[in-house]
Amino acid sequence: MDMDTPRVWPAEGWTRVPYWIYTDPALYKRELDTFFYGKAWNYVALDCEVPNPGDYKRAWIGERQVVVVRAKDRSIHVWENRCAHRGARVVWQNKGRVDSFTCPYHQWNFALDGKLQGVPLKRGVAGKGGMPSDFSNANHGLCSLRVHVEGGSVWATFASDGPTFEDYCGPEMLSLIRRVFPGRPLKLLGYSRQLIPSNWKMYVENLKDPYHATLLHSFLITFGLWRADTQSESVPVAGGKHGIMVSRNVGKKASAETAEIQRNKSQLELEDADTVTPIREFDDGKVIGLTIFPSVVMHQQANTLGMRHIIPKGPGAFELSWTYYGYADEPAELTRLRLRHANLYGPAGYVAMEDGEVLSEAQLGAAEYGHRSAVVEMGGKDVEPQDHMVTEVLIRAFYKYYREAMGL
Ligand code: FES
Ligand SMILES: [Fe+2]
Repeated sequence: MDMDTPRVWPAEGWTRVPYWIYTDPALYKRELDTFFYGKAWNYVALDCEVPNPGDYKRAWIGERQVVVVRAKDRSIHVWENRCAHRGARVVWQNKGRVDSFTCPYHQWNFALDGKLQGVPLKRGVAGKGGMPSDFSNANHGLCSLRVHVEGGSVWATFASDGPTFEDYCGPEMLSLIRRVFPGRPLKLLGYSRQLIPSNWKMYVENLKDPYHATLLHSFLITFGLWRADTQSESVPVAGGKHGIMVSRNVGKKASAETAEIQRNKSQLELEDADTVTPIREFDDGKVIGLTIFPSVVMHQQANTLGMRHIIPKGPGAFELSWTYYGYADEPAELTRLRLRHANLYGPAGYVAMEDGEVLSEAQLGAAEYGHRSAVVEMGGKDVEPQDHMVTEVLIRAFYKYYREAMGL
């Protein structure tokens, strides 16, 4: 984009989003430092991905690689994937099981919890070379992050002095996280991964935008999983940082159908309605999507449960890494439905495919127009919770928070 575009926010405030924030490399670096590498709690894994001691998973926080490991005492550790010696990546694979970790470069060996336990040629050879006598393994382990395990979901932060996980989420968000992660053992059902050529914040916005889902996603509308008149709530929490979208009585008409709803319904019918026929699972009968800034969207829709991990890859792209899960003790029929309904999601999902396409279009549209701005006035101009989904209130509230945090 034009580097002469002034890096200012439009005078209208949070009802506008200037397009330069999706492309500016310096701003992007500052976002990584402020959020992902700052005081945020970042989603990194589910504990069922590393069920046994020695199991590990490579994960990303922003553009930094970390490794999630289960130690011998069954505690979970997260450390920087960067050798304490000269910086080589210790782990090159996404998942595995080991007794200890050996860096490929000079073969320093680390325990599961990251402690340095062996340095080849430490005493030198034939009395020559070797480490100085004051070199202590205890001072040269892999750098560990603070870790919080919430009912089987694993979170990490680089900040040694930041808020607790509970304070970072706030009470409303925490109670909804605990609704799906009550401490019931989890079961891993699968993954999908995709690279979306748009700025990572566009995905955060997409999941704070129930309005688009009633128009773009014809599959949801056609088969009754989501409609503009579905009873719902859009609730910004933690000062707009996180967002909650709730729907209830999905599939039931709340009002006479508007012309827009009718126009968006087609005459198509599925021969096998299994894929669009959830069974009621949660007592509250709600369908809930949570954006927990900056790194994850948690979805419960139809009978799928999923974590959508946002991994930025420069200002113009991000990886979206989906993890689908259920509960270890659930009936086989529910697991079957979760897998069936997972067809809605992921890179080729009946619903989610469209998000990848429109976000890449939005990035292409905005890229060379950094001096122009998006309008987010649907549902009014304020940032208060709303009891419907025809609104962009979650986006406005998010940019209120973002501008304060970034000093813009
Ligand atoms: S860089 Fe890892 S052992 Fe040297
Ligand atoms: Fe969408």
